[in-house]
Amino acid sequence: MSRPELIKDVVASIAEYVPGKSIEEIAKKYGINPSEIIKLGSNENVLGPSPMAVEALISTSSMVNIYPSAVASELVEAISVYTGLPVENICASGPGMDGLLDNLMRLLINQGDEVVLPTPTFSYYEIAARANGAVAAHVAPGNELAFDVEAIKTAISERTKVIFLCSPNNPTGKLMAEEDVRAILESTKGLVFVDEAYVEFADSNLSHLVEEYDNIIIGRTFSKAFGLAGLRIGYGLMPAWLKTQYMKIATPFNVSYPAVMAGVAALSDKDYLDRSISCTKKGRVFLIKNIPFRVYDSQANFVLVDVAPMVAADVAESLLKKGIIVRDCRSFKNAGDSLIRVTVGTQQQNEKVVAAFKRAKDCSVQ
Ligand SMILES: Cc1ncc(COP(=O)(O)O)c(C=O)c1O
Repeated sequence: MSRPELIKDVVASIAEYVPGKSIEEIAKKYGINPSEIIKLGSNENVLGPSPMAVEALISTSSMVNIYPSAVASELVEAISVYTGLPVENICASGPGMDGLLDNLMRLLINQGDEVVLPTPTFSYYEIAARANGAVAAHVAPGNELAFDVEAIKTAISERTKVIFLCSPNNPTGKLMAEEDVRAILESTKGLVFVDEAYVEFADSNLSHLVEEYDNIIIGRTFSKAFGLAGLRIGYGLMPAWLKTQYMKIATPFNVSYPAVMAGVAALSDKDYLDRSISCTKKGRVFLIKNIPFRVYDSQANFVLVDVAPMVAADVAESLLKKGIIVRDCRSFKNAGDSLIRVTVGTQQQNEKVVAAFKRAKDCSVQ
């Protein structure tokens, strides 16, 4: 028997997080051998993890009876070297950047505070904010799915506590110009959360703004360029005053010791990071050039395909049947019904993706 009256009222109106499909799910549904399935629906790193990170995991496995450092100090120091920011500006987080978002929403949101959400974007911001009592103000995209900066500024009110800017944005792949981020920072008394989950694949980043503004938080992750999605490590770059408050309420020991040391190893594996970035950038160009539909330019490790006049559900399904997992974007608010997000794969995977899109297009014209 269920007891819905025990659950906070707001939960009834929150839409569940929709994850990318798993290999197991697709293998079962379409009777495909799991080893033949290509998983390009969740923007993971297709090169596998850094061998140095794997070695760190193995060598720390015998120490899991001991709690890690409460503040993940080894990892925070390594992130300090990587970003060039002092440790006073860095909080490591688990599970992943999602854990950072959860802790921040618990720290910041009073009942009825507003959060501004330019759409379409990563859906967990809204879940974390609303679960803590926030009211969401959605902002529709401009032409060609661009950020509508004027509309974002107009949506800011006296009650705005947090503005979420995802740059590069998931699922559009677009980067927000630094001058636009500055303008938004300067037009609010609230905090601006800049999600840089995909920033290693982009032409620029905004970490330097943390030294200049007292109302910015940058979210980062080890799940993408560093290839450690399964370990669930993220971090936040924020002004020192905010770190002090954040550490008061953060879940204790939220990054495990193997994850701390794997993160440190991944940061030191420059060769892996370089390969992961260059493989993505090359593959991105290949997909944009060869997928026979409108493909948006991207600064991330995925591309967004507009299959109109076909619908995303049909095209995604035809790829899934061939064992290629991509993301039908209908669950993203304001994304319409013709967008499909595809993680950049290896060259061999990208060729299969292109061939599958060509087949889907040819079938539709027959
Ligand atoms: C834009 C964006 N932010 C955050 C996350 C979550 O990152 P993590 O795996 O560190 O929780 C994702 C995951 O796909 C993402 O796309």
